[in-house]
Amino acid sequence: MTSALPGVENSLQAIADIERQYVLQNYARYPLALVRGKGCYVYDLEGKRYLDFLSGIGVNALGHAHPRILKTIRQQAALLIHCSNLYYHQYQGPLAGRLVEMSGLARAFFANTGTEAVEGALKMAHSHGRSVSPDKYELIALENSFHGRTMGALSVTGQAKYREDFEPLIPGVKFVPANNLAALEAAFSDCTAGILLEIIQGEGGIYPLAHEFVAKARELSDRHNALLIADETQCGVGRPGTYFAYQRATPVVMPDVAVAAKPVACGIPLGFILANEKAAAAIKPGMHGTTFGGGPLACRVALEFLEILDGLLPAIERVGGYFHARLNELARHYPFVKEVRGFGLMLGVELTVPGKQFVMDAMAEGLLINCTHEAVLRFLPPYIVTEKEVDQCIRILGKLFAKVET
Ligand SMILES: Cc1ncc(COP(=O)(O)O)c(C=O)c1O
Repeated sequence: MTSALPGVENSLQAIADIERQYVLQNYARYPLALVRGKGCYVYDLEGKRYLDFLSGIGVNALGHAHPRILKTIRQQAALLIHCSNLYYHQYQGPLAGRLVEMSGLARAFFANTGTEAVEGALKMAHSHGRSVSPDKYELIALENSFHGRTMGALSVTGQAKYREDFEPLIPGVKFVPANNLAALEAAFSDCTAGILLEIIQGEGGIYPLAHEFVAKARELSDRHNALLIADETQCGVGRPGTYFAYQRATPVVMPDVAVAAKPVACGIPLGFILANEKAAAAIKPGMHGTTFGGGPLACRVALEFLEILDGLLPAIERVGGYFHARLNELARHYPFVKEVRGFGLMLGVELTVPGKQFVMDAMAEGLLINCTHEAVLRFLPPYIVTEKEVDQCIRILGKLFAKVET
């Protein structure tokens, strides 16, 4: 394959070399350069096919080159890609309306990424706190959590390895172990402005929170007039088999604020904050904004995606359940598989051995997955995945697990 663009290389070595020379060396990339995708598969420079069970870390919800998403992008790109938030366009309001209907919350703000949505939610909590008292600025977050890489989001990320190089971060953050009711209660006071939870911790190793812990966080937030913020960046927008992860357990515990991003515009950057009227009242005209967030292209693609999502939710539940059961079968065969966790199409397999080599070996076998927290194999396949593709993934994992000497 030759490229018409100057400086665009066609071999993995040349691509890696030019990046090494010019790109900030913050990523440790796998030795793989991707060229195109179709459905649940992606293809490298040589045309080798890979089953994509990571979907760009939970982004490519409809897989690759979905015909309705392509058509929408083509149509809207020819009309208007961006116009800034100085002007109205036709799609932001309807998208907000759709998200409000799905979430049970009242108002939306559009950002570009998960971390940017978290930043906005933190500002909401701070502003809400200040409206009550100057001392009400403390935030509670969970140990092992991940909320993003910007300074505010890092401040509430409960993993020292992400935070320590950038300290001091924003003050007044208390970390509590997940599912520890006594520690949660002890962390709250009238100085608490908000608490952030991932209903299923993603980066931290696919750990679902106990329903009673989330319910307790709601009760304590009400008692101390704090905002309960659900970070649904990884676990939301259909992936758990419901629109949002907080809707999985009954009775539903409503957050005051929900943030999300990843899958909502199928690869076009778009994040959002949803807030009830109480939380939304904390952001007054001029207090928050963004140049790119909620542009016509991203919003129209998101509207198209959400229309398709409705029909996919039962399949996410069904195929996710099948995948979970098949992973449990593997766990019964191999003693180094400690636990299978997750819901819907957000699943993790915790091993008692390091996971990185499995990721590399899976790639060689034509399967893309990743490993988080050193020993948790993470699976975030596209929502269009079928039982047949799950079987293919299990076959490859089985082959790799069988090679391990125990
Ligand atoms: C729960 C959670 N919050 C926030 C983020 C940050 O999102 P982004 O990388 O889009 O900034 C992530 C990213 O993985 C996440 O999993």
